[in-house]
Amino acid sequence: MRFLAQLGVVSVGILGGCVRSAGPNEAPTYPNFAVAADHAIASAAGAEILRAGGNAVDAAVATSFALSVVRPYSCGIGGGGFMLVHLVDDPRHGDVDVFIDYRETCPGGIGPDSFEAFDDDASQRGGLAIAVPGSVAGLMHALETYGTLDRDAVLAPAIRIAERGFRADADYALRARTLAASFEANPAWKSRFPFVWERLLLEGRVQAGSRVRLPEQAEALRLIAQYGAAAFYDGPIGDAIVEAAARDRGVLTHEDLLQFKPRERAPIRTEFFGGTLLTAPPPSSGGIAIAQVLGVASRATFGMHPLQSELASSAERHLLYHHYLAEALKHAFADRARWLGDPDFAEVPTDRLLGDPRLDEIAEAINPFSTLPHDRYGSAPAPNDDGGTSHFSVVDSRGSAVACTETINLEFGSLVAVDRYGFCLNDEMDDFTTSSGPNAFGLTQSDRNRPEPGKRPLSSMSPSIALDSTGDVLAVAGGSGGPRIISATVQVLLNALRWGDAGIAVGAPRIHHQWSPDVLEMETGAVRWDGRAWEVPFGPSRGRTSFEEFGHAIRGRDTIGVVQLILRRRDGWQAASDPRKGGSPDGG
Ligand code: GLY
Repeated sequence: MRFLAQLGVVSVGILGGCVRSAGPNEAPTYPNFAVAADHAIASAAGAEILRAGGNAVDAAVATSFALSVVRPYSCGIGGGGFMLVHLVDDPRHGDVDVFIDYRETCPGGIGPDSFEAFDDDASQRGGLAIAVPGSVAGLMHALETYGTLDRDAVLAPAIRIAERGFRADADYALRARTLAASFEANPAWKSRFPFVWERLLLEGRVQAGSRVRLPEQAEALRLIAQYGAAAFYDGPIGDAIVEAAARDRGVLTHEDLLQFKPRERAPIRTEFFGGTLLTAPPPSSGGIAIAQVLGVASRATFGMHPLQSELASSAERHLLYHHYLAEALKHAFADRARWLGDPDFAEVPTDRLLGDPRLDEIAEAINPFSTLPHDRYGSAPAPNDDGGTSHFSVVDSRGSAVACTETINLEFGSLVAVDRYGFCLNDEMDDFTTSSGPNAFGLTQSDRNRPEPGKRPLSSMSPSIALDSTGDVLAVAGGSGGPRIISATVQVLLNALRWGDAGIAVGAPRIHHQWSPDVLEMETGAVRWDGRAWEVPFGPSRGRTSFEEFGHAIRGRDTIGVVQLILRRRDGWQAASDPRKGGSPDGG
C-alpha cells in the first residue's frame, strides 16, 4: 500500500475495492466467470465449458485445444506449456495450488554439445529443433486429476473449429505474411515444409478473413478424445510424429514419446503488496525473475527510492519508475543467465535468489541516477519477437483460477508439420544453451541449461495468480513474447495495482531489459522520442533530461509481449485480452 500511496496515482483501485471506469482499452466485466485468451474463438471455447458447468481446469483444457487450432503459430499439440492451477473448495480436491509442468523435453539422441556440429539454425528450424511435445500429456493430466468433465466434452469445441475452419484474424495474417517472406527468401523451404507453406500460409496468400481448415487436426483431437494421451504418445499420432521428424533429420523416437511425463511442482509463492503471488517455478525462469523484481519494488518503491522521495516531483516519477524497473530486470536476467536450468538436472538456488539478503543486495545496488557497469548485475560472474507462445487466464464461478502459458517457441515452431494430423512441431531445442552465443531471443544462458536426454529447456513463461490478504483471487496473468514475457507480466501486475483496471493495465506502454544485450527497449508511447534522444516526458531529474543520460542504451520497439489479464472488481471479473495480438475475452 505504501507503494501505491507514494506513486500517488491510485485514488481508486482494486486494493481499495473500488470500481473505476475503463479507459481507452475498455475491458468487459463478467459477474460470474471469465476467460481471456489471445483469440476470441478460444476464449469462447472456454466460456462454453464454464457455462456448461465445468470448472476452471475443464475450461483451460478446452481453451488450450481450441488455441491449438486457431493459433497454430503460437502453441498447440506439437508444443508444451505450464498450467498454474488454483482450486478453491473443490468437491474432489479441496483447496489446491499446483503448477503442472508439461514443458517439452530433450530427445535421447541429443547431448550437451550435439548442436556444435549442426548448422547454425538447426535448433530453430527443421527436425533437429524438435523437442518431445508435452501439451497433450499435460492437458490430459490436468483434466483427469483436477477437471470434472470428460474428454469428449472439453475437446468438442476444438474439434468443431478444426473441422469447420476459422477465418484468419489480423494477427494471423501478419505472422503468416512475415513467415511467407522467409519462404520466398528460402525457396527450398516450400518443398521442405509443405504443410506450413500450403495449408497454414496458403502459399503466401493469407489475408485477414481467409478461411483456414484443419480437418486433419480434428481427426487427431478425436483420437485424443477417444483414447486419451495414449493416442498421441503410443498410437497413430506418435507414429506420424516420429516419421515427420525423421524426414527432416530429426532424432525423436517412439521411446522418447513413451518416456514423456508431465510433472507437478510447487508454485513459487511471493509476497505481493499485502497478498501473495503464485507464479512459475523452474524450469521457468519467469517466476524467480518476477519475484525478484517485486521484491526490489517493495524495498525501493519504484520511482520513489528513499534517496529521492524528498526531491521527486510528479514530473520525475515516470522516468524514475522506468529506470528502477529496467535496473531490477537487468539484475534478474543476469541471475537467470547464471543460475537457472531444469531443477531435475541442475541445482537451482531458488531460496537464495529470492531470500532477503539477495533482494536487499539488488535494491541497494541500484543507482538512482545511472546504470552500472555490465558485470555488476547478477550475483556472480555470468557466463525475434515471439509469436510462438500463447497465454490465457481463466476464473470460474467458485473463484478457482487457471493461468496457462503454452508454446511451440518460434512462430510455427520448427516448421516441420505432422501433415496427417494437421499440426506443427515445436522448436523448443533453441531454448537450451546450444552454443556459446545467444539464442533466437538474444538470451545468453549457462551450461546448466545445456541439452541432455529427458531435460527440459529453461523457459520465460510465467503464468501467475495474485491472491489478496484473505487468499481470494485478485488477478490472473501471464503472457507471450520470449524473455519479454517476464517484463510484460510484472508490469501488467504492477499496473493492475496502480490503476485497478484490466484494460488500462494491459494496454499501457511497456519497457523491457534482459541485461544482455545491454539495451533498454521502449514501446512506442512509453517515453517521448524527439528525434535525437528519448526524453524525460515531464521534466529534468537531477539535470538529466533523457534516459541516455542515465546510461541506458535505448531502442524503440513496436510491441513488448502480449498479456492476458483477469482482474477482480467489485462487480465481477474484468477480463482483458491484449490489443497487441487482437484477442478478446468471454465470460458470463
Ligand atoms: N519458448 C519461449 C519460452 O519458453 O520462454
